[in-house]
Amino acid sequence: MKGLVVLILAAGKGRRFQSEKPKVLQPILGKPILRIVLDSVFGLKPEKVYVVIGRQVEKKAEDFSDDTRIRFIRQSEPLGTAHAVFSARKALAADRNKDVLILYGDNPLLTTRTLRTLLTRHRRRQNSLTFLTGMLDDPAGYGRIARGADGSLRVIEEQEAATVELKVKEVNVGAFVFRAVDLLRLLPAAMKKTQKKERYLTTLVEACCRRGSGVEAFSVLSDDEIFGVNTRFDLVEVAHRLRARKIRELAAKGVTFYDPATTWIDLEVEVGPETVIHSSVIIEGKSRIGAGCRIYPFVHLSDTRLGDRVKVLSSTVIRESVVEDDVQVGPFTHLRPKTTLRKGAKVGNFVEMKNTVFGRNSKAGHLSYLGDAEVEEEVNIGAGTITCNFDGVKKSRTHIEAGAFIGSGVELVAPVRVGRGAYIGAGSTITKNVAPQALAVARSRQIEKPGWAKRRKKKQE
Ligand code: UD1
Ligand code: CA
Repeated sequence: MKGLVVLILAAGKGRRFQSEKPKVLQPILGKPILRIVLDSVFGLKPEKVYVVIGRQVEKKAEDFSDDTRIRFIRQSEPLGTAHAVFSARKALAADRNKDVLILYGDNPLLTTRTLRTLLTRHRRRQNSLTFLTGMLDDPAGYGRIARGADGSLRVIEEQEAATVELKVKEVNVGAFVFRAVDLLRLLPAAMKKTQKKERYLTTLVEACCRRGSGVEAFSVLSDDEIFGVNTRFDLVEVAHRLRARKIRELAAKGVTFYDPATTWIDLEVEVGPETVIHSSVIIEGKSRIGAGCRIYPFVHLSDTRLGDRVKVLSSTVIRESVVEDDVQVGPFTHLRPKTTLRKGAKVGNFVEMKNTVFGRNSKAGHLSYLGDAEVEEEVNIGAGTITCNFDGVKKSRTHIEAGAFIGSGVELVAPVRVGRGAYIGAGSTITKNVAPQALAVARSRQIEKPGWAKRRKKKQE
């Protein structure tokens, strides 16, 4: 949007939050609150985005430093929302003829669409100030809107509201569009010394009305967008709403959800069309799920990439791993970081892998541990096979070449290599490399004493 400058206030202390971490950096569905607000703002394509931060946030500002669209402004002390805007007055002076959209950094539910509607209205009416309001059944904690019979407007902060005013359900949401010149003209008055510790930005509403400029309280919202994050419990409420939106958005792109109420999908997760997600599934971080996958109940995926047509059976946990097309994994499989399952692989119950590449069409059906291993294609791993990758000091690698057959209950003591097409007898403890096409058996021979049991019984009698 041409002629638009955005100012996000994020320097508050978040006293009600009881956290070392600044409130605006708390993540919701894998994304810091401030980042969620910024993404809505970037949807408007503004000319500039300023974020007012305090000392606490400043230390963490590097989390956002990849984003050159953002400029940070330091508020020396959190002396209120008007003071926060006042801290940015010099920067804003360069854009006197533009519109300034002021947002609170703790309001992540506002959408680009609503902000655009607000801005369009502001411009069409040629207002000095247009700000968003909404109706809340329980308005506690929010500034209330007082509409005078003469059309005048005021925002009354809860701390200063009289009992009747507290009953008002129309609240200040926290999105103000000012003509920059008017904002700069009004600001000094809002900074006048009073008894109060904080200078409220909301006092500008009344001041602007008194000057007779066009001021409009604009209510366009579903109450879904009003909610801000003040207490830790608000995080839950906001997370639920963002989650519902995310799921609706994915459903519109062709993803089927069996039970959205028990499904948690982080905001940055991508899911391809025709994928079906059963109940009680969690997908976190930067996970990317392909098309036509099926994800069964109680699956937990974090920072994981699934190809197309992957089946993840119940109660499987996968972290920081890659699963290629047409793989079947689970139930009860645990893939730890840096695992890759190549196309067509099959991994079953109670199999754990870590830092392992598991080859095309290879199979590990039951009860195995493969760590620091490279398993080539068409390998069969028998039930109960494990890599002994740790000697108490260092980790070593196991390499199993294509087409090898590892019998059940085998221990592969790393570093070790099993050659192409070799067979390992069940119950072997393999400590030396096995040549291609060989059979290796490393277990004690079976002895048998005929009639032993019968003789023993007689003796006991
Ligand atoms: C504010 C509004 C209230 C509105 C509500 C909506 C004021 C005075 N009150 O109340 O009318 O209904 O939001 O959620 O504006 N901040 C700074 N510097 C400061 C103080 C705050 O940058 O010195 C930032 C905070 O980080 C926060 C935002 O401004 O992101 C709002 O501050 P907060 O203290 O949360 O205001 P509320 O009491 O929620
Ligand atoms: Ca707030």
